[in-house]
Amino acid sequence: MKRIAIFASGAGSNAKNIIQYFAGSNRIKVEFIACNNPKAKVLEIAKSENVPIHLINREDFYSSDTLLRLLQENHIDLIVLAGFLWMIPENILSAFPKKIINIHPALLPKFGGANMYGMKVHEAVIANHETETGITIHFLNEKYDEGEIIFQKKISVDENDSVLSVASKVQLLEYEWYPRIIEQLASS
Ligand code: GRF
Repeated sequence: MKRIAIFASGAGSNAKNIIQYFAGSNRIKVEFIACNNPKAKVLEIAKSENVPIHLINREDFYSSDTLLRLLQENHIDLIVLAGFLWMIPENILSAFPKKIINIHPALLPKFGGANMYGMKVHEAVIANHETETGITIHFLNEKYDEGEIIFQKKISVDENDSVLSVASKVQLLEYEWYPRIIEQLASS
Protein backbone atom coordinates (compact mmCIF):
# COMPACT_ATOMS: atom_id res chain seq x y z
CA MET A 1 0.00 0.00 0.00
CA LYS A 2 1.30 3.48 -0.95
CA ARG A 3 0.32 6.28 1.37
CA ILE A 4 -0.50 9.84 0.39
CA ALA A 5 -0.78 12.99 2.50
CA ILE A 6 -2.70 15.89 0.98
CA PHE A 7 -1.80 19.47 1.98
CA ALA A 8 -4.63 21.94 1.36
CA SER A 9 -5.54 25.47 2.45
CA GLY A 10 -8.86 26.19 0.83
CA ALA A 11 -11.99 24.84 -0.81
CA GLY A 12 -10.58 21.36 -1.19
CA SER A 13 -12.39 20.30 -4.33
CA ASN A 14 -9.24 18.60 -5.63
CA ALA A 15 -8.69 16.95 -2.25
CA LYS A 16 -12.23 15.59 -2.40
CA ASN A 17 -11.77 14.35 -5.95
CA ILE A 18 -8.50 12.61 -5.05
CA ILE A 19 -9.98 11.00 -1.92
CA GLN A 20 -12.96 9.71 -3.88
CA TYR A 21 -10.78 8.46 -6.74
CA PHE A 22 -8.73 6.29 -4.35
CA ALA A 23 -11.56 5.37 -2.00
CA GLY A 24 -11.84 1.78 -3.20
CA SER A 25 -8.16 1.28 -3.98
CA ASN A 26 -6.14 -1.40 -2.27
CA ARG A 27 -2.89 0.10 -3.57
CA ILE A 28 -3.16 3.80 -2.67
CA LYS A 29 -4.55 5.36 0.46
CA VAL A 30 -5.06 8.99 1.44
CA GLU A 31 -3.70 8.81 4.97
CA PHE A 32 -4.46 12.36 6.14
CA ILE A 33 -4.98 15.97 5.13
CA ALA A 34 -2.75 18.68 6.55
CA CYS A 35 -4.36 22.11 6.57
CA ASN A 36 -3.08 25.50 7.72
CA ASN A 37 -6.44 27.26 7.75
CA PRO A 38 -8.90 26.44 10.55
CA LYS A 39 -11.74 27.92 8.47
CA ALA A 40 -11.00 26.09 5.24
CA LYS A 41 -13.80 24.19 3.54
CA VAL A 42 -11.47 21.25 3.06
CA LEU A 43 -11.93 20.50 6.77
CA GLU A 44 -15.61 19.69 6.17
CA ILE A 45 -14.65 17.55 3.22
CA ALA A 46 -12.14 15.60 5.31
CA LYS A 47 -14.82 15.01 7.92
CA SER A 48 -17.44 13.83 5.49
CA GLU A 49 -14.93 11.59 3.69
CA ASN A 50 -13.60 10.19 6.98
CA VAL A 51 -10.03 11.27 6.36
CA PRO A 52 -8.01 12.39 9.42
CA ILE A 53 -7.08 16.05 9.48
CA HIS A 54 -4.02 17.72 10.97
CA LEU A 55 -4.24 21.44 11.49
CA ILE A 56 -0.86 23.11 11.30
CA ASN A 57 0.21 26.51 12.53
CA ARG A 58 2.92 28.67 11.03
CA GLU A 59 5.34 28.42 13.92
CA ASP A 60 5.21 24.64 14.13
CA PHE A 61 5.38 24.31 10.37
CA TYR A 62 8.50 26.43 9.95
CA SER A 63 10.28 25.91 13.28
CA SER A 64 9.68 22.34 14.30
CA ASP A 65 9.73 18.77 13.02
CA THR A 66 6.17 18.05 14.13
CA LEU A 67 4.73 17.61 10.64
CA LEU A 68 7.85 15.86 9.34
CA ARG A 69 7.56 13.31 12.16
CA LEU A 70 3.88 12.82 11.42
CA LEU A 71 4.66 12.18 7.76
CA GLN A 72 7.36 9.69 8.68
CA GLU A 73 5.33 7.92 11.36
CA ASN A 74 2.51 7.48 8.84
CA HIS A 75 4.97 6.11 6.23
CA ILE A 76 3.89 8.70 3.67
CA ASP A 77 5.21 7.94 0.18
CA LEU A 78 3.90 11.00 -1.66
CA ILE A 79 2.86 14.48 -0.52
CA VAL A 80 0.20 16.01 -2.74
CA LEU A 81 -0.39 19.74 -2.60
CA ALA A 82 -3.92 20.69 -3.59
CA GLY A 83 -4.39 24.42 -3.19
CA PHE A 84 -1.81 24.73 -0.40
CA LEU A 85 -0.52 28.29 -0.19
CA TRP A 86 2.47 28.07 2.16
CA MET A 87 5.98 27.38 0.97
CA ILE A 88 7.17 23.92 2.07
CA PRO A 89 10.00 24.15 4.64
CA GLU A 90 13.46 22.74 4.01
CA ASN A 91 13.17 19.89 6.52
CA ILE A 92 10.22 18.39 4.61
CA LEU A 93 11.61 19.20 1.14
CA SER A 94 14.88 17.40 1.85
CA ALA A 95 13.20 14.39 3.48
CA PHE A 96 10.92 13.89 0.44
CA PRO A 97 13.02 14.47 -2.70
CA LYS A 98 10.79 14.13 -5.78
CA LYS A 99 8.03 13.00 -3.47
CA ILE A 100 6.14 16.30 -3.20
CA ILE A 101 3.95 17.43 -6.07
CA ASN A 102 1.74 20.41 -6.81
CA ILE A 103 -0.85 21.28 -9.40
CA HIS A 104 -0.99 24.74 -10.91
CA PRO A 105 -3.97 25.97 -12.96
CA ALA A 106 -1.94 27.32 -15.91
CA LEU A 107 0.87 26.34 -18.24
CA LEU A 108 3.99 27.05 -16.21
CA PRO A 109 6.37 28.82 -16.44
CA LYS A 110 3.67 31.26 -17.54
CA PHE A 111 1.40 32.67 -14.84
CA GLY A 112 3.27 31.23 -11.87
CA GLY A 113 4.86 32.66 -8.75
CA ALA A 114 3.94 33.73 -5.25
CA ASN A 115 1.00 35.96 -6.20
CA MET A 116 -0.44 33.77 -8.90
CA TYR A 117 -3.15 31.65 -7.36
CA GLY A 118 -6.88 31.14 -7.62
CA MET A 119 -8.79 33.41 -9.98
CA LYS A 120 -5.78 35.70 -10.40
CA VAL A 121 -4.26 33.10 -12.69
CA HIS A 122 -7.28 32.96 -14.99
CA GLU A 123 -7.70 36.75 -14.90
CA ALA A 124 -4.12 37.10 -16.09
CA VAL A 125 -4.68 34.54 -18.86
CA ILE A 126 -7.70 36.48 -20.16
CA ALA A 127 -6.04 39.90 -19.73
CA ASN A 128 -3.06 38.63 -21.73
CA HIS A 129 -5.29 37.36 -24.56
CA GLU A 130 -3.76 33.90 -24.32
CA THR A 131 -4.99 31.42 -26.90
CA GLU A 132 -4.33 28.45 -24.66
CA THR A 133 -4.06 27.59 -20.99
CA GLY A 134 -4.21 24.40 -18.98
CA ILE A 135 -2.72 22.62 -15.99
CA THR A 136 0.79 21.87 -14.81
CA ILE A 137 1.72 19.16 -12.34
CA HIS A 138 5.24 19.60 -11.00
CA PHE A 139 7.65 18.55 -8.29
CA LEU A 140 8.22 20.98 -5.47
CA ASN A 141 11.39 22.87 -4.85
CA GLU A 142 12.26 25.87 -2.71
CA LYS A 143 10.67 28.36 -5.14
CA TYR A 144 7.00 28.85 -5.95
CA ASP A 145 5.96 27.01 -9.12
CA GLU A 146 9.52 26.37 -10.34
CA GLY A 147 10.05 22.67 -9.65
CA GLU A 148 10.53 20.18 -12.46
CA ILE A 149 7.43 19.78 -14.61
CA ILE A 150 5.93 16.28 -14.64
CA PHE A 151 2.84 16.81 -16.78
CA GLN A 152 0.94 19.49 -18.65
CA LYS A 153 -2.39 19.44 -20.43
CA LYS A 154 -3.54 22.28 -22.68
CA ILE A 155 -6.92 23.65 -23.62
CA SER A 156 -7.67 26.43 -26.03
CA VAL A 157 -8.99 29.83 -25.00
CA ASP A 158 -11.05 31.78 -27.49
CA GLU A 159 -12.66 35.21 -27.62
CA ASN A 160 -15.89 33.89 -26.09
CA ASP A 161 -14.11 32.69 -22.97
CA SER A 162 -14.38 34.55 -19.67
CA VAL A 163 -12.39 34.21 -16.47
CA LEU A 164 -15.13 31.94 -15.13
CA SER A 165 -15.39 29.74 -18.19
CA VAL A 166 -11.62 29.26 -18.25
CA ALA A 167 -11.62 28.52 -14.52
CA SER A 168 -14.23 25.83 -14.86
CA LYS A 169 -12.57 24.19 -17.88
CA VAL A 170 -9.24 24.14 -16.05
CA GLN A 171 -10.89 22.69 -12.96
CA LEU A 172 -12.27 19.81 -15.02
CA LEU A 173 -8.78 19.11 -16.31
CA GLU A 174 -7.49 19.07 -12.73
CA TYR A 175 -10.11 16.55 -11.66
CA GLU A 176 -9.41 14.36 -14.65
CA TRP A 177 -5.62 14.32 -14.49
CA TYR A 178 -4.35 14.92 -10.96
CA PRO A 179 -5.47 11.54 -9.56
CA ARG A 180 -4.08 9.71 -12.58
CA ILE A 181 -0.65 11.33 -12.28
CA ILE A 182 -0.67 10.69 -8.52
CA GLU A 183 -1.46 7.04 -9.26
CA GLN A 184 1.46 6.80 -11.71
CA LEU A 185 3.93 8.46 -9.36
CA ALA A 186 2.83 6.55 -6.29
CA SER A 187 3.12 3.26 -8.17
CA SER A 188 6.57 3.93 -9.62
C1 GRF B 1 -6.56 24.53 -7.87
O1 GRF B 1 -6.95 25.32 -8.94
C2 GRF B 1 -5.10 24.17 -7.98
O2 GRF B 1 -4.65 24.19 -9.29
C3 GRF B 1 -4.43 25.27 -7.22
O3 GRF B 1 -5.30 25.59 -6.18
C4 GRF B 1 -6.64 25.29 -6.56
C5 GRF B 1 -7.24 24.49 -5.45
O4 GRF B 1 -8.62 24.37 -5.56
N1 GRF B 1 -3.11 24.88 -6.80
P1 GRF B 1 -9.41 23.43 -4.55
O5 GRF B 1 -9.15 23.92 -3.15
O6 GRF B 1 -8.90 22.04 -4.76
O7 GRF B 1 -10.86 23.55 -4.94
